[in-house]
Amino acid sequence: MTKFLRVAAATALLVSSVIAAEYTIKLTHVVSPNTPKGMGADFFAKRVGELTAGKVEVIVFPNSQLYGDGEEMKALKLGNAHIAIPSFSKFTSIVPEMQIFDLPFLFRDKTHLHHVLDGEVGQAIKDKVTAKGFVALDYWDAGFKSLSANKPLIKPDDAAGLKFRIMSSHVLEAQFKAVGANPQVLPFSEVYSALQQGVVDGAENPLSNFYTKKFNEVQTDLTMTEHGYLGYLVVMSESFWKKFPATYKPLIIQAMKEATEYERKIASEDDDATMAKIKEYAKTSGKLTIHTLTPEQKAVWQKAMESIYPQFYNTIGNGLIKKAQAVQ
Ligand code: LMR
Repeated sequence: MTKFLRVAAATALLVSSVIAAEYTIKLTHVVSPNTPKGMGADFFAKRVGELTAGKVEVIVFPNSQLYGDGEEMKALKLGNAHIAIPSFSKFTSIVPEMQIFDLPFLFRDKTHLHHVLDGEVGQAIKDKVTAKGFVALDYWDAGFKSLSANKPLIKPDDAAGLKFRIMSSHVLEAQFKAVGANPQVLPFSEVYSALQQGVVDGAENPLSNFYTKKFNEVQTDLTMTEHGYLGYLVVMSESFWKKFPATYKPLIIQAMKEATEYERKIASEDDDATMAKIKEYAKTSGKLTIHTLTPEQKAVWQKAMESIYPQFYNTIGNGLIKKAQAVQ
């Protein structure tokens, strides 16, 4: 084949693959493409393309490009976006019980966490999301959150008087108030500049968000409190799904199942890899110090933060909290 024919064939293939897409799914999220959520979303898009032979195309909009916090759920309702992957706190006003997953020190480890999410408690929360007119798909992982600020936070008292950015969640608000700090709700897209300009003094993030959003450049200390968990529920627009052709539905669900496995695997590997990068940054820049806590120091944080649980027995349900804690 001559070069001209090769180029013509490639162009024809490209054009036909573009023309062949009969349906478009707009997927919106707020983080970098190189986070577990970002990679999971791209993997889902690729698998949908493969499984539907290009008939369904998923377009991924990362970094709050299309919709930011507070806008994603509305966009799903209006059918302007079709899939979103909000973190648990972003469901607070729709399903307040979802705040159970924001409770500090609720999850003992990742095994416990997955057993809770994939079991009765996770299903009960999904049912509530469904009842509010969304299609609740799968739970995805980010990781355990730690605290950053411009000082070490070895004990809860160290956080007293500091302003911390939080997602919109009453549990997170109470958690920071319990240690004498001042919580301030801000969308994720504004955290970097808020830290840079001193609008807030600190934040809580999993390592992937901390590093990919370059928060390490605007904070001098990262203290590994691992006090809470950041995870996601993938949700779809109900009106969109109702109209979506039945022939493709099982393929979308299949692609999501595979993407969930992939995303969770990436998330479990990501913490170590990202910590290595943060350590390297700390070493070469000399501008960041990482503090690990002893089990005794962590226990002091746990005691201070866990004191908020009774405040949420009504909103979340004491029974649901107890059920989650009892999961093995
Ligand atoms: C945040 O706002 O900190 C997170 O919800 C961002 C994300 O989606 O990981």
